[in-house]
Amino acid sequence: MKGIILAGGRGTRLHPLTVSVSKQLLPVHDKPMVYYPLSVLMLAGIRDILIISDPRDLGAFSSLLGDGRQLGITLSYAPQKEPAGIAEALLIGADHIGSDDVALILGDNIFHGPGFGEVLQGHVAGIDGCVLFGYRVPDPERYGVAEVDEQGRILSLEEKPEKPRSNLAVTGLYLYDNEVVEIARTIRPSARGELEITDVNRIYVERRAAVQVDLGRGFTWLDTGTHDSLTDAGHYMQLMEQRQGIRVACIEEVAMNMGYIDAAACYLLGEQIAKSDYGQYVMGVAASAPRVFAGT
Ligand code: TTP
Repeated sequence: MKGIILAGGRGTRLHPLTVSVSKQLLPVHDKPMVYYPLSVLMLAGIRDILIISDPRDLGAFSSLLGDGRQLGITLSYAPQKEPAGIAEALLIGADHIGSDDVALILGDNIFHGPGFGEVLQGHVAGIDGCVLFGYRVPDPERYGVAEVDEQGRILSLEEKPEKPRSNLAVTGLYLYDNEVVEIARTIRPSARGELEITDVNRIYVERRAAVQVDLGRGFTWLDTGTHDSLTDAGHYMQLMEQRQGIRVACIEEVAMNMGYIDAAACYLLGEQIAKSDYGQYVMGVAASAPRVFAGT
């Protein structure tokens, strides 16, 4: 399966922060926002990832992450000239997807929960149709909401419904089989002039080929689109680190744990930024990984 991170957009709700820099390069506590969706794809076992952003920002993304080799993955970059809708990512990424399945994730969505990697790997394997991920929210009328049957098959999808049929919001992570490229080619801009991802998902719903996975209790989904939610996300990550001693979305640690790089390589990545707490953490997790440092 291929991965796409959509990391463009105008970020108007974050102005003036995003006047001259991409939202997805802003800090969420100790790391740029894009680390969070990148780590999700890496945890799913996806190693060939396209990052789509505004032409202005692509250079900054590539100087941050390069070609991915240091993490044992392949990263490439493509421009989205205008924020013409989330579904446009599937057209921009058509060559990247090729004949594969694809996971599309929004660059400003943060997921954190126990066993998420295994959950994702389970759904990524042999996907037939589309898989969405639902998260329980107190205000579903602000989101896309799915009506599902007992097996999780989606019966209908509504955007910002006045009377939501459930309190599960559709999050910004979408898994598709290869048909999605053809489907994306058939949709037309909505009244607001965007290629809507909901229109793509509705075609899968009509084919009875869309399921929603409930992320469940104990899981955290954060969106970072406003000043308050961005600050809240930073505080959440700070708390995780201070109270649990873990850093969420540490891509070097994820790369090592997934076996994409060995502990020695991970240690070197930490050493390059050793003056920061983050760098020290990377060195620490690498040094406590027994295999390589025990010489086996
Ligand atoms: P939004 O939060 O809907 O839009 P935005 O990021 O431009 O912010 P604002 O509403 O404050 O103007 O976008 C959700 C995510 O999808 C975000 O990571 C940006 C990304 N996106 C694109 O990269 N291209 C697009 O065409 C759209 C619509 C969104």
